[in-house]
Amino acid sequence: MARILSPAITLLLFVNSIIALAAYAVSASPNEPFAIRISCGAREDVHTKPTNTLWYKDFGYSSGRYSGASLTSSIVPPLKTLRYFPLSDGPENCYNINRIPNGHYSVRIFFALVADPNIQNEPVFDISVDGTQIYSMKPGWSNTEDQSFTEALIFVTDGSLYACFHSTGHGDPSILSIEILQVNSTAYNYGQPWNKFMVLRTDKRLSCGTGKSAFDEDYNGVHWGGDRFWLGTPSFSQGSDQSISTDRRIAESSVPPNFYPERIYQSAIVSTDQQPDLTFEMEVDPGKNYSIWFHFAEIDPRITGEEERVFDILINGDVIFEKVDIIRSTGEGYTALVLNKTVVVSGKTLAIILRPMKGYAILNAIEVLEIIPSELRTLPEEVRTLQTLKTSLGLPLRLGWNGDPCVPQQHPWSGVDCQYDSKSVRWVIDGIGLDNQGLKGLLPSDISKLKHLQNINLSGNSIQGNIPFSIGTIAGLETLDLSYNQFNGSIPESLGQLKLLHILNLNGNLLSGRVPANLGGRPLYRASFNFTGNPGLCGIPGLSACGPHLSIGAKVGISLGSLMAALLLLVCVVCWWKRRQNILRTQKIAASREASYAKARTNFGRDVQMTKHSPLRAHNQSRIATEDSPALLS
Ligand SMILES: *[C@@H]1O[C@H](CO)[C@@H](O)[C@H](O)[C@H]1NC(C)=O
Ligand SMILES: *[C@@H]1O[C@H](CO)[C@@H](O)[C@H](O)[C@H]1NC(C)=O
Ligand SMILES: *[C@@H]1O[C@H](CO)[C@@H](O)[C@H](O)[C@H]1NC(C)=O
Ligand SMILES: *[C@@H]1O[C@H](CO)[C@@H](O)[C@H](O)[C@H]1NC(C)=O
Ligand SMILES: *[C@@H]1O[C@H](CO)[C@@H](O)[C@H](O)[C@H]1NC(C)=O
Ligand SMILES: *[C@@H]1O[C@H](CO)[C@@H](O)[C@H](O)[C@H]1NC(C)=O
Repeated sequence: MARILSPAITLLLFVNSIIALAAYAVSASPNEPFAIRISCGAREDVHTKPTNTLWYKDFGYSSGRYSGASLTSSIVPPLKTLRYFPLSDGPENCYNINRIPNGHYSVRIFFALVADPNIQNEPVFDISVDGTQIYSMKPGWSNTEDQSFTEALIFVTDGSLYACFHSTGHGDPSILSIEILQVNSTAYNYGQPWNKFMVLRTDKRLSCGTGKSAFDEDYNGVHWGGDRFWLGTPSFSQGSDQSISTDRRIAESSVPPNFYPERIYQSAIVSTDQQPDLTFEMEVDPGKNYSIWFHFAEIDPRITGEEERVFDILINGDVIFEKVDIIRSTGEGYTALVLNKTVVVSGKTLAIILRPMKGYAILNAIEVLEIIPSELRTLPEEVRTLQTLKTSLGLPLRLGWNGDPCVPQQHPWSGVDCQYDSKSVRWVIDGIGLDNQGLKGLLPSDISKLKHLQNINLSGNSIQGNIPFSIGTIAGLETLDLSYNQFNGSIPESLGQLKLLHILNLNGNLLSGRVPANLGGRPLYRASFNFTGNPGLCGIPGLSACGPHLSIGAKVGISLGSLMAALLLLVCVVCWWKRRQNILRTQKIAASREASYAKARTNFGRDVQMTKHSPLRAHNQSRIATEDSPALLS
């Protein structure tokens, strides 16, 4: 294959975090905007007529299903496949597109209907880009030509972009295509407070005075314009206005930063005597801010000077531009004039009136963009931790957990409660409620990285293993319900550090050992702790009694102490025995000496008596004593 495209840029695309690597070659000449077009559900790259536009396949995804597409209107790109996301795959599904140069992009997503006679419902769902909900589809879209897509201008600041589709319970979201088209970094700068944190969703974009709809591409527009779609509008009020057009070149069109195609200025709607006001009305969402862009060019050859056509522009009754005189502003005819205005619309109707002061009112094109402040994301470490929980607890597919946990605020992950953290200027997780969700596996000790948790309810699952010691470091934890699982081992002492903990349900597990002393006393106050239904747990009223409770140190101490005592006892016993032996012997000797003494004495008396008579006998007696002495001393 001899595609001469350089440099090759590798994009990482994934749906629901399942990674598919695609070597995309994107032409990146410095003057050309970055562009990716994805044909959803396609297994081969597609080229579409008439511009030979390249659409990349989206292969290798495990999420969603692919199907043939039935296109809903003539403006839909002629693609044959789509990807749809059954509710059983979870309420939110996302495309993550990485390796996008930071910049300003027009993101456009086309919808289509699954080409299957058994699936008849038109799905209605919500769409978010980078966590900001940009569109909530309206029923009947598939019968309305310009509602088969949504489009928004958004800044990419971290090299990636993700688009998520949120089920609202009305059919399976089905996506035909995703386009990410770079535009000028200051495109659609509407003045204060325009910034990188504002998303602009295209609500209406009309080319007036023509019955033909077209894309910038069809008009040979500059690519930096983002290939906008212009809905052809021949009239605002059948009959009471008229359309005019010209073939002459229009000066000042196609200029930065918005690069409007020349063609949108070459036709216009002009009011008539029958109805001098030119009135355009559309339904909008109440309470939203809109950025409205008016396009003018004097293309009526009869109007050549100032003061020949002058009109006011009113929005919902307020004059927002006074005495607009196109020739005065542009200096000459056939020259583009762009005016923009930001308005807050309180009601459901946006009514725009061009009221002539001199001559008739004219309008060549108009754009209505909804201003949506972009959402803050969730603290990345907390998102990673939830992903760890998702894997290690085998979270069922139907729960989803794709995209960002807290935003869009309309669609947080189920089982996750969020709170705004002013310190990090991010969303953080303050509650996990995954009771009775069929979870299994181990509770990872990483759960303590969700530092802002106040409530955890994992009751009624089949979670095994130990209660992580680290839970005791989640300082703000108020309720911990792990009841009716298969937790085993002992209750970590660390839970006793949780000062705010006032509901602790550990009942119905396989826990054993002593309930930590500083937990056992707590129920006396206002807390409600439940430890029942754990066969091996002991130590508080209502549970069985424990043996003496000793720490490891104490146990070591006691063992050492006992050993010393035993040794000492042994030494004592040996000494005592030896001593006793000696005493016994001494007594024996003493006894025998006593005996001989007594005898000697007897003899002595006799001897004395005898000595008196025989001195030799006394000498014999002393010799006996001398012979006994060594035995006594040994
Ligand atoms: C839009 O209008 C504002 C003033 O309301 C102006 O500052 C800004 O330059 C205009 N933008 C363009 C692109 O003309
Ligand atoms: C973007 O617009 C500015 C004017 O607003 C212009 O100076 C600049 O050249 C444009 N950049 C591109 C890449 O077209
Ligand atoms: C609309 O704009 C006003 C003024 O700029 C701002 O105070 C308000 O919050 C905006 N409303 C919405 C919904 O963005
Ligand atoms: C946790 O969930 C269970 C089951 O849904 C419920 O009965 C229990 O009250 C919850 N625990 C707390 C502390 O709210
Ligand atoms: C707790 O359960 C886990 C997993 O079921 C097992 O591997 C471990 O040996 C058990 N520990 C205790 C102390 O019973
Ligand atoms: C504790 O849990 C058991 C079931 O395991 C239940 O019967 C009992 O009422 C609970 N006690 C309290 C105080 O909630």
